[in-house]
Amino acid sequence: MRIVLKIGGSLVFPDKIDVELVKNVSKQIVSLSSNHEFLVVVGGGTIAREYIRALKDIGKDDTFLDFVGMEVAKLNASLFMGALGKKAPVEVSNDFKHALSTLYLGKIPVLGGTHPGHTTDAVSSMLAEFVGADLFLRFTNVDGVYDKDPRKFSDAKKLGKISHETLLEIVEGTKAEAGVNAVIDPLAAKILKRSKIKTIVCGKEELKNIKAIIEGKHKGTEIF
Ligand code: UTP
Repeated sequence: MRIVLKIGGSLVFPDKIDVELVKNVSKQIVSLSSNHEFLVVVGGGTIAREYIRALKDIGKDDTFLDFVGMEVAKLNASLFMGALGKKAPVEVSNDFKHALSTLYLGKIPVLGGTHPGHTTDAVSSMLAEFVGADLFLRFTNVDGVYDKDPRKFSDAKKLGKISHETLLEIVEGTKAEAGVNAVIDPLAAKILKRSKIKTIVCGKEELKNIKAIIEGKHKGTEIF
């Protein structure tokens, strides 16, 4: 299978860099790459939002903030590049064509941000569409898609399986501004819907066994 794997920056850098997570995930990806092709996208997470908050306070515009968020995501991506050993690319890919060429060289492409105006969810979904991925695996600090924000509502219910249409309904109305933190970027939901890419959203715990998720064993949300 050709798989786009997105790791939320908040998992990589909760309060300091989780080196064990980076090493463990990279080791799994390298091992699984004998049977699957992986392209990895890493988010900017908390650190990106912190820079965005500060620069917003200073008075910078959203596009400026987006560029800074993209750089933080690239920094986080470089951690995985450093841990992929012989499968590591020479640089973090800034665009999809570079990522695909890197894959053709037998390496595992790694991306952070690519363009202002969206998040690394959108990067991942566009990349998945561009490379014709069979699966988009997304790991964040929320362990699936809920009917409403579980950080705000204690009665929020995790959804096991939903359609792309339902995902879009859930995220529509999310504000378009730098650093926005939604269940998934609405642009990503739209791209996933149009390209019908099977998507699985899981939490940090499940990142320990990527093979099981690929085989369909997970506690997250499947979007089809
Ligand atoms: P992230 O993708 O890291 O946001 O982008 P996120 O959804 O908070 O990610 P995780 O999952 O918690 O890591 C952070 C910000 O960087 C800018 C946007 O402002 C985004 O909100 N960004 C990122 C871009 O403008 N373009 C990109 O391609 C990526």
